[in-house]
Amino acid sequence: MSRMLWAEKYAPRKVSEIVENRKAAERVAEFISNWRPDQKPRALLLWGPAGVGKTASVYAAAKELEYDLVEVNASDKRSLDEIRKTVGTASSLSSLIMGRKRVILVDEVDGISGSEDKGGISGLVEILKNTVHPVILVANDPWDPKLASVREYCELVRFNRIRSNVISSILARICEREGVQADPAALRGIAENARGDLRAAINDLQMVAEGRERITMDDLRILSLRDQERNVFDILKAIFYGKDAQKIVMAASSSDVDYELLMQWICENAWQHMQYPKELADAYNALSRADVFLGRIRKRQHWGLLSYVFTLMSAGVSLSRKTSGGGVPKYQFPSWVKMMSAAKARRNAIGSIASKIGKKCHVSSREAFTSYLPYIKFIIEANPEAGANLVKLFDIEPEVVGGLISKEVAEKVKKILS
Ligand SMILES: Nc1ncnc2c1ncn2[C@@H]1O[C@H](COP(=O)(O)OP(=O)(O)OP(=O)(O)O)[C@@H](O)[C@H]1O
Ligand SMILES: [Mg+2]
Repeated sequence: MSRMLWAEKYAPRKVSEIVENRKAAERVAEFISNWRPDQKPRALLLWGPAGVGKTASVYAAAKELEYDLVEVNASDKRSLDEIRKTVGTASSLSSLIMGRKRVILVDEVDGISGSEDKGGISGLVEILKNTVHPVILVANDPWDPKLASVREYCELVRFNRIRSNVISSILARICEREGVQADPAALRGIAENARGDLRAAINDLQMVAEGRERITMDDLRILSLRDQERNVFDILKAIFYGKDAQKIVMAASSSDVDYELLMQWICENAWQHMQYPKELADAYNALSRADVFLGRIRKRQHWGLLSYVFTLMSAGVSLSRKTSGGGVPKYQFPSWVKMMSAAKARRNAIGSIASKIGKKCHVSSREAFTSYLPYIKFIIEANPEAGANLVKLFDIEPEVVGGLISKEVAEKVKKILS
């Protein structure tokens, strides 16, 4: 079966299934069904925080009233033009008589680029003036100055955050339907963490619960790990897109990400923001100076130098860029950290093998490592059968043998032993 987002799978199909913002959803349905071409205000503007049912209300109302929903992407000027051409014309009028009625949804209106592209806003206003179908606009922040002219044509409908006990009960219902046994405390944890955003809560639930039979508080750890990672992305964005040195340094130094790790993140990703060799060189020069300070701190415990580390690795790097930062790149996890932990895992594996060999052969693990291991490794690779016997003799777990020899041979040995 294909994977489906639970937030979509369990999206409300009827207005009565909208929780918490029911009144607002009912207003949407009422507006659509009573709409007349000469009416004022011309449109509804639904507003409020993310994941509280704005888009879902329009979908549910259209479905229930059996309207076709025409969705317009507000930040795509072409899509807006397309609608403007058809929205007030006779051909669309005929659909009123002939076919099903239509409702037009312009979602994420605040995404319209305001100043550079006045066309977007004025195009929208034109749609509102001429439309022969009900139009519903959605925005997170309707008070954005660029929406002033749009607001004049709209009745504002406010959507509120969903209370966390309501979120909990919805999560519980989803678990029931998915056959997941959920610890109520875990559901409360997810609900509270979502801060009123029901979609976020459902997504989090799916992440920890999908394919499992039960979930407990313990399973929520994966969410906090992910939060930390999201946190890093936000900090990186604040650093790379900031223009004010002081704010950039603040973003770096007030984060709860370990500063050495943050420096690795910056080091891994700075190049993506630099367009010219000169910018790139300056950025990595700043990083290398931050690293020098870090070395002095480690060696001499001169913690007072830490502020230089922060300044150089954040503002020093970011302001090396003289051109615009470009689009938001896909930030990479620091490869150095990955490499170090892979190398560490391998060292640990080899260390444990050496100590086991040492015990059996009455030598130190160091001696086992330098004088015995190379031969044992050779035997295993030359003759997996004999190697398997040695692995058994030394009581080495077949899994860790992989750290010693090639994957294929390790698989052979594992097969022989099983
Ligand atoms: N009030 C609600 N009642 C029932 N389900 C909801 C409600 N709010 C959100 N949901 C669930 O969350 C999903 C996302 O909600 P929706 O798309 O309506 O968010 P939104 O308010 O439009 O947010 P955004 O501002 O991010 O677009 C829905 O598909 C549904 O599963
Ligand atoms: Mg939406």
